[in-house]
Amino acid sequence: MGRLENKVALITGAAGGQGAEYARHFAREGCAVVVTDVEGESLADLVDAIRASGGRIVATSLDVRLEAQWAEAMALAKRAFGQLHVLVNNAGTISRQGVDATLLESWHRTIDVNLTGPMLGIKHAAPLMRESGGGSIVNVSSTAGLTAHPDAAYCSSKWGLRGLTKMAAIEYADWGIRVNSIHPGQVVDTKIYSKLAAESAEAGRLAIPARRGARPSECADLVLFLASDESTYITGSEIAIDGGYSAGAPMFLRGKLRDLLASGKLDGP
Ligand SMILES: NC(=O)c1ccc[n+]([C@@H]2O[C@H](COP(=O)([O-])OP(=O)(O)OC[C@H]3O[C@@H](n4cnc5c(N)ncnc54)[C@H](O)[C@@H]3O)[C@@H](O)[C@H]2O)c1
Repeated sequence: MGRLENKVALITGAAGGQGAEYARHFAREGCAVVVTDVEGESLADLVDAIRASGGRIVATSLDVRLEAQWAEAMALAKRAFGQLHVLVNNAGTISRQGVDATLLESWHRTIDVNLTGPMLGIKHAAPLMRESGGGSIVNVSSTAGLTAHPDAAYCSSKWGLRGLTKMAAIEYADWGIRVNSIHPGQVVDTKIYSKLAAESAEAGRLAIPARRGARPSECADLVLFLASDESTYITGSEIAIDGGYSAGAPMFLRGKLRDLLASGKLDGP
């Protein structure tokens, strides 16, 4: 028996990066998956690969900002597999602008994709999940939803998603639906990551006590656990998956600065 046997999941932003890895993990564990992304065609290779290994999968275009497309995606899940037990709100975007540089257009785009999208997803998935006997929603936030982050819109959207998670966990508890957020730090080998300037990526890595970014498969292991019946008493929780970054990057970096000062490689103020 797979760990998600007899379950159906819908994953947003699944064309690459973490979303595609979630789909592969879920399918391996017996889950039927509805994979979605802005451009449905970008999911073709993933669909072929999962079908070739015997998995059950359908794909569709879903721009998470558009409520009508959420309704269509739910109708597809019902037509294809009859039920829905898991929603992973994974789609995300980033602006990389501080408050001073923020353009209103990119502020709205980031908030719409990262926060309004998951709200619409919860709103539309919950009734079908209830009809299916309950389930689990996983919201992919970020360490930017636990600490400060140089992007004003991204940071605000990911903190907002953490709050939305907690209120939805309470609102839907009676329907047997659990809602949790995960907070990855730096996740390598994704589109969002590859757009980081080399110095920013390296500075980010140096601030992680584990000294490396996460692999998408490590995030997928956590999402799989939260999606499965192995976590039936976990709801409204936030789980950092960041190599220790949010627990104590200041303490870690203070130690490094102390060593540099002691060795004379860094001048004090
Ligand atoms: N990579 C990291 O370092 C990192 C760290 C923390 C959190 N995250 C979060 O993880 C999630 C997955 O990102 P990733 O790292 O796999 O990067 P990614 O860029 O590979 O994946 C993001 C996906 O979201 C899709 N998307 C963007 N706008 C959309 C929209 N309007 N509707 C539907 N889909 C849309 C993109 O097409 C893409 O496939 C995001 O929410 C991101 O904020 C990433």
